[in-house]
Amino acid sequence: MYDPQLPILNMKVLVTGGAGFVGSHAAEHYANAGDDVVVYDNLSRAKLLQQNDTNARHNWEYLSARKEIAMVEGDVRDYDLLKPYVADADVILHTAGQTAVTTSVTDPEPDFMVNALGTFNVLEAARASGEQKTIVFCSTNKVYGDNVNDVELVESEKRYDFAGTYANGIPESFDIDLCKHTPYGCSKLTADLYMQDWARLYGHRIGVFRMSCIYGTRQFGFEDQGWVAWFTIAAMKGFPVTIFGDGKQVRDVLYVTDLVELYDRFVRSDVPHGVYNTGGGVDHTLSLLELIDLLESRLDRKIPVTYDDWRPSDQKVYISDTTASRAAFDWTPAIGPAEGVEKLVQWVLDNPDLW
Ligand SMILES: NC(=O)c1ccc[n+]([C@@H]2O[C@H](COP(=O)([O-])OP(=O)(O)OC[C@H]3O[C@@H](n4cnc5c(N)ncnc54)[C@H](O)[C@@H]3O)[C@@H](O)[C@H]2O)c1
Repeated sequence: MYDPQLPILNMKVLVTGGAGFVGSHAAEHYANAGDDVVVYDNLSRAKLLQQNDTNARHNWEYLSARKEIAMVEGDVRDYDLLKPYVADADVILHTAGQTAVTTSVTDPEPDFMVNALGTFNVLEAARASGEQKTIVFCSTNKVYGDNVNDVELVESEKRYDFAGTYANGIPESFDIDLCKHTPYGCSKLTADLYMQDWARLYGHRIGVFRMSCIYGTRQFGFEDQGWVAWFTIAAMKGFPVTIFGDGKQVRDVLYVTDLVELYDRFVRSDVPHGVYNTGGGVDHTLSLLELIDLLESRLDRKIPVTYDDWRPSDQKVYISDTTASRAAFDWTPAIGPAEGVEKLVQWVLDNPDLW
């Protein structure tokens, strides 16, 4: 259980992918708590974005200003470089990853090497240290693949919802077999299973968080990834916005600081191991059309949108059943969608030169 009365000890925290969106918030959280933080990132997001380097390096420079954070430019595929940083850490937040589903389809090899081998390297380095490490792994709802699309839906004017058995969302016991995963789903599921086995076999404390839609500041969303941030940035900057499908697709959305709070409650708990479907849950959901409505009323203008066909592997609805993590960690998201989107709007306003 998570016990808020437990004394908070100074920890050495390694954040792989720490220059990314989730990783940068995790690194900041632990630096604010007085812990020693190492960010380990190969800055490949810069190449992925293939735009100006400014925004891709933004998080790196943002964190470099903190004296509690050591910045290491390194690749999780490079075992020899990674190994001593893992050995030296009490807590490893493994957020580094190839994150775009579309890229995994067009170029599956680096997706496999980063997500599967890179994660294996983190685990092997932990095992080689001879110490029991606490590890947080950023898994994904994509481990459930296309099975999610078999769930019964109800359709209303602006959204779809799950109906029947899964009206409260997808639980951790949901089937992972015999479905279309995409290479990204396969490589993340591989990593997810290795994490589970390293906890069982070698006694590391490992939290596997199967995340749905995380959003927040310092998220450089683009069309293929990070839709809440992408639509907000695009609407404010006047970039063309395309909706694939009918816009009624729904996700449970979780503001990034609520996610990091959940990680931290796992880290500071005595829970030996767990797998948690992680998102805003059934109380914090948003469809694309609802997000557009929210942005139009916030910006007080119409947002021009074009429509295109559904993309392969698009899910009409994904909502996490967050019962397990709420019960284990006495956790509940503090920031609802309207408040979270407002934070994003403010971030874009405060950083006019990032795009
Ligand atoms: N953001 C979400 O909604 C979401 C949902 C489900 C799962 N996830 C997972 O959470 C993790 C973090 O996602 P994010 O949104 O912060 O992505 P992000 O792209 O912002 O961050 C990932 C970081 O990992 C780094 N990286 C990539 N390959 C690397 C490598 N080989 N070695 C070292 N660093 C490398 C990138 O440079 C980047 O800074 C990822 O593993 C992703 O699969 C995210």
